[in-house]
Amino acid sequence: MKIAVLPGDGIGPEIVAQASKVLEALRSDGLKIELEHAHIGGAGYDAAGDPLPDATLNLAKQSDAVLLGAVGGYQYDTLARPLRPEQGLLRIRKGLSLFANLRPAMVYPELANASSLKPELVAGLDIMILRELTGDIYFGQPRGVRTLDNGERQGFDTMLYSESEIRRVAHVGFQIAMKRNKKVCSVDKANVLDTSMLWREIVTEVAKEYSAVELSHMYVDNAAMQLVRAPKQFDVMLTGNIFGDILSDEASMLTGSIGMLPSASLDANNKGLYEPCHGSAPDIAGKNIANPLATILSVAMMMRYTFAREDIAQRIEAAVRKTLQRGLRTADIFEAGTQKVGTDAMGAAVVAAL
Ligand code: IPM
Ligand code: MG
Repeated sequence: MKIAVLPGDGIGPEIVAQASKVLEALRSDGLKIELEHAHIGGAGYDAAGDPLPDATLNLAKQSDAVLLGAVGGYQYDTLARPLRPEQGLLRIRKGLSLFANLRPAMVYPELANASSLKPELVAGLDIMILRELTGDIYFGQPRGVRTLDNGERQGFDTMLYSESEIRRVAHVGFQIAMKRNKKVCSVDKANVLDTSMLWREIVTEVAKEYSAVELSHMYVDNAAMQLVRAPKQFDVMLTGNIFGDILSDEASMLTGSIGMLPSASLDANNKGLYEPCHGSAPDIAGKNIANPLATILSVAMMMRYTFAREDIAQRIEAAVRKTLQRGLRTADIFEAGTQKVGTDAMGAAVVAAL
């Protein structure tokens, strides 16, 4: 298992260090794991003047999987856009053709009180958001800021989806649903956007190949509302890049903390990039208070999707659950009656449970 490790910025290095401990524990248990580190984001800019140095993309291409922390920091906010840390993330997703982004939102019974919703609304919640990751208004051309004849500036982006892009991610959605509760809700804005009309048409067509799966369609504004009204109605939510970006942050809050949410970004051959859904949180970087569980759970997803080791994935997830059951909490999920621990101690506890 050749894994490229890209800690990135902010809390990235701290949380990735904890996930690396888990990988090292698995290695001493007999798994053939090879880790190689490289820079991305602001760290890439600092080291090589590029948020995605060539060496990093090459390493990622040669690896079976990528473990990524997070990118971004205040000191990079004034750089020209091509040099910004976020570009490193967008380019590595595109460069590796990681079109299928799996963002599960699951409520651990131990954390039901940490949700911003009433516990009964979220208890037992288990949603899989499948976000298309290499198309849409994120990558569509043309884009830019132009000056009109009257001298006023105008910003513009292009929302684009081709049939093949929609079809391949739809297939992933139905295949995931087959292994779950066999429900796909496709989220779009087909009442307004032409791109969404095509999206809906293609998803409906692909659904015919999966007769066991129940397909529904929902407008994105309604989906945003339903997620906080009755989130348990969803199984797999299939959606485009920008709607998925927004809805996955919203869904994270149902679970108590975005610090708990892992993600997998897969290409057509299950090569994957694994990262927490949260960002680099520069305000708490270096303080040993960040929650490493989303990154550790991303390693579990890596074992499941890239290496087809469901057994190890479940072992890691069980170790996380056991650690929560013991009452250990980082600051983001702390509540009275539990024990507040730092990033390092949380990672060590999961390794011990493993
Ligand atoms: C995410 C992030 C990124 C995105 C940013 C950092 C470019 O918000 O992974 O959800 O918008 O995809
Ligand atoms: Mg986001």
